[in-house]
Amino acid sequence: MERRRLYEGALRGVARRFGFREAATPMFEEAELFVLRSGENILNELYSFKDKGGRDMALRPEMTAPAIRMFVNGMSNDPKPIKLFYFGQCFRYERPQSGRYREFFQFGAEIIGSAAPETDAEAIAAAAAMIRELGLKEYRIRIGHIGVLRQAISDAGIPPESQARVLQLLDKKRLDEAREAMAAAGADPDAAEAAVRLACTVGGREVLDAVGGGAREYLGAVLDVLDAMGVGGVEVDLGVVRGLDYYTGMVFEAEAPALGAEKQICGGGSYSLSELFGGEKVFSTGFAIGFDRILLALEREGAPFSPAGIDAYVVCASDDAKAKAFEIVAALRAGGASADVDTMGRKMAKALRHADAVRARFAVIVGPKELEEGSATVRDMATGEQSLVKIGDLAAAVRRAG
Ligand code: HAM
Repeated sequence: MERRRLYEGALRGVARRFGFREAATPMFEEAELFVLRSGENILNELYSFKDKGGRDMALRPEMTAPAIRMFVNGMSNDPKPIKLFYFGQCFRYERPQSGRYREFFQFGAEIIGSAAPETDAEAIAAAAAMIRELGLKEYRIRIGHIGVLRQAISDAGIPPESQARVLQLLDKKRLDEAREAMAAAGADPDAAEAAVRLACTVGGREVLDAVGGGAREYLGAVLDVLDAMGVGGVEVDLGVVRGLDYYTGMVFEAEAPALGAEKQICGGGSYSLSELFGGEKVFSTGFAIGFDRILLALEREGAPFSPAGIDAYVVCASDDAKAKAFEIVAALRAGGASADVDTMGRKMAKALRHADAVRARFAVIVGPKELEEGSATVRDMATGEQSLVKIGDLAAAVRRAG
């Protein structure tokens, strides 16, 4: 948990620096909220149940739909764009494997009420800054446009009911199966091949030439803003599909190759959901980082972490110093230091070993001599150096700077 909290704190810091404010939504919602637009994948994976009132409920599989419900219910008049971030667990009834759990944490953000390349670039920049802040070294960010691929499939004559399946196959790069599915749906062979080519178009800005008018300019503008913000290394990949159905335009994903099959550590894009929940149609852009996965990726890279420990551990050198030891630990805590005290009647040598075990930076030793002088001996646990410090000055002497 210490490691998780450290990373969580780092992500919150970046979110706040980007002007996002924290939101929280309930752990479960009416199942309909997710049924309305989340797509087949999510539906099969819902943890759903009937409550005592006979209502169909579901544990949240993600937090975008709940965030937009919250926006429609109570924030629709707030100044736009509304920038929210959230951190919490999600539940999907999936086949558990390394990096894929039934309960997992997402750290996500939504920019609600704006449809512009600048907004999309902000979301990508925030996600990139978060991944960087955690110190992950090996990762790729790929940006695409779901509208372009949907259009290509429509142009090939794929009827709406077959489109999701074809998109899924293209996403997984199961190209022969995608070709077969398109042929079975009566697609024009040349147009179907063009859709396959599009889904395999990956590279730098220059590959945008393969895209028709509006989307080319749009993605170009997103890349311009990213360049201006110094967010480098973003690839164009027109085959990015995403597993959720609500995306309308720009989509992006980040992956950590070290994770193998479950390498996607972040996904997002622009979407519109509010009109499904009884609100006006507003466009938004957001993303969610798979917190457990990015932690796994950091562990695989051997990211250093040392638990914090405490500032001081108070040790009695004699029985008559016991009461004083408790007085001192209380004074240390009141003075802002993190401090602990022996409560098991250990002899001094054992107590000092325990101070080491709880990673105390200092041992504060209280014995008869110290008591007489109104002081305590402060021992630096790393160097063994000792000094006599007045009781009133103890907290300042052991407290970590800053
Ligand atoms: P998603 O791609 O379904 O998007 O999930 C986001 C991230 O959550 C994934 O990239 C992955 O790292 C992590 N994740 C998903 N499922 C699991 C699992 N079973 N175990 C561990 N990690 C998992 C969304 O959920 C969208 N709501 C993102 C978004 C926000 N789009 C717009 N705004």
